[in-house]
Amino acid sequence: MIKLSKRLQVVASFIPDNTSIIDVGCDHALLDIYLMQTKKNIEILATDINPNPLEIASLNIKKYHLETKIKLKLMDGIKDLDKNIKTIIMAGMGGILMTNILVSSKENLKNVQTIILTPNNDFPLVREKITKLGFKIEKETLIIDNKKTYLVLKFIKGKQRKINYFFGTLNNKTLETIYYYTNIINTNKKILKKIPNKYFLKKLKLAKENKKIKRFLNN
Ligand SMILES: C[S@@+](CC[C@H](N)C(=O)[O-])C[C@H]1O[C@@H](n2cnc3c(N)ncnc32)[C@H](O)[C@@H]1O
Repeated sequence: MIKLSKRLQVVASFIPDNTSIIDVGCDHALLDIYLMQTKKNIEILATDINPNPLEIASLNIKKYHLETKIKLKLMDGIKDLDKNIKTIIMAGMGGILMTNILVSSKENLKNVQTIILTPNNDFPLVREKITKLGFKIEKETLIIDNKKTYLVLKFIKGKQRKINYFFGTLNNKTLETIYYYTNIINTNKKILKKIPNKYFLKKLKLAKENKKIKRFLNN
């Protein structure tokens, strides 16, 4: 079986069986090969906006004799999304790019049931924008891989009344959440020092955030 990075292993663990998948920005397609080797009854369309990654993906797929199982397509985001696709994966991109891809083609999300995202930044923005598209967070986890923090999020179709920009469902104290929230406190402290007093509402918001996080960390 193909070996994956810790990050992609966690992404794979969030993918259900019995579904049709698009992996947007598949690059090397290692995740797709692993999914095809480990999940039951799935179809995969692996896409990328650039031809070069798709050539590498094609070589990798051939190496594992999966060329009849994994389809490859040059495609920008989900602009030409097939109606049969039920699960969208986007991994290893910035939060802004991911949300732009989904929001700009939101009319194509009607039949989609699950969206798995692994942004490497702008986590609150991703939570907000995807929730507003009519999906709710079923589960999420923070991981540290190669000294970088990633959020792996599983959204399923459904309304979420209140958007939790900040904690989401990450209310378990783990090494990763302690590391992540301690970094946020330190960044907020630095920003607070730089913001002029006339922007007191912004200052108040950051100070409140820090208070909440400290409560979480000290509990
Ligand atoms: C850093 S790679 C991530 C590869 C893989 N998903 C992973 O997590 O290891 C990001 C890939 O997204 C592709 N990409 C960027 N914008 C895209 C878009 N609008 N539509 C499809 N692919 C895109 C890039 O060409 C690149 O191959």
